[in-house]
Amino acid sequence: MEKRTFLKTGLLLSISAAMAPLVSACSPGKKANGAQKMTLQPPKVKRTTPFALPALPYAAAALEPHIDKQTMEIHHGKHHQAYVNNLNDAVKDTVYAEYELEDIIARITSADADKKIRNNAGGHWNHAFFWQTMTPGGNALQPGQLATAINTTFGSFDKFKTEFSDAAKSVFGSGWAWLCVGKDKGLFIATSPNQDNPLMLQIASKTGTPILGLDVWEHAYYLKHQNKRPDYIAAFFNVVNWNEVALRFDKAMFG
Ligand SMILES: [Fe+2]
Repeated sequence: MEKRTFLKTGLLLSISAAMAPLVSACSPGKKANGAQKMTLQPPKVKRTTPFALPALPYAAAALEPHIDKQTMEIHHGKHHQAYVNNLNDAVKDTVYAEYELEDIIARITSADADKKIRNNAGGHWNHAFFWQTMTPGGNALQPGQLATAINTTFGSFDKFKTEFSDAAKSVFGSGWAWLCVGKDKGLFIATSPNQDNPLMLQIASKTGTPILGLDVWEHAYYLKHQNKRPDYIAAFFNVVNWNEVALRFDKAMFG
């Protein structure tokens, strides 16, 4: 099977297809301060059902000993569920009421009126993404286009790991570290505060398509690792689903 056909077939089987960013639906505009922003057309597809909590793709205990069962149960069943519930409440009677999640995220501004939607839409997207990019025991990054891109961009996989870990450690308070594909198809590492992410075209300092993300909110690690965020970051690399990350890379690169 031709490489590109194989990739597309694999991607169709991935639920990540439902989370595809809509960067291609944008056109650049200008903010009053001269910075680039995106002017978006109304989405063509309307959402007809409320947002819902996606099931974990593995048992809550399956990431042990690196991420413990109780943390996963609370993180997924309480925190993520709360983002979903609050998002459904926040979009009622707003322009976003029938928008898909990615359509909302692309349009959120820093205005106070969008604050509850911003936090909960981001929280829902980020966590749904996070669960998918981990797997019990992790799996190794296989030789291929992502491995090549990481080596080219960062010098080596170990250097990437150090740079990503340092970024995750540097987040002050709650937030996320990301590995993204930019509009130039280059890889870059970014961080975001709270539940923001690089798909927030009106807000993010640098936009791109996340292919790996790490939640560094204390609720993600405090029960097991207490204040030792570096220990949690190191543990995370034992459960990364590099097969999923590579699929997302291929999709971001080749569509
Ligand atoms: Fe979280």
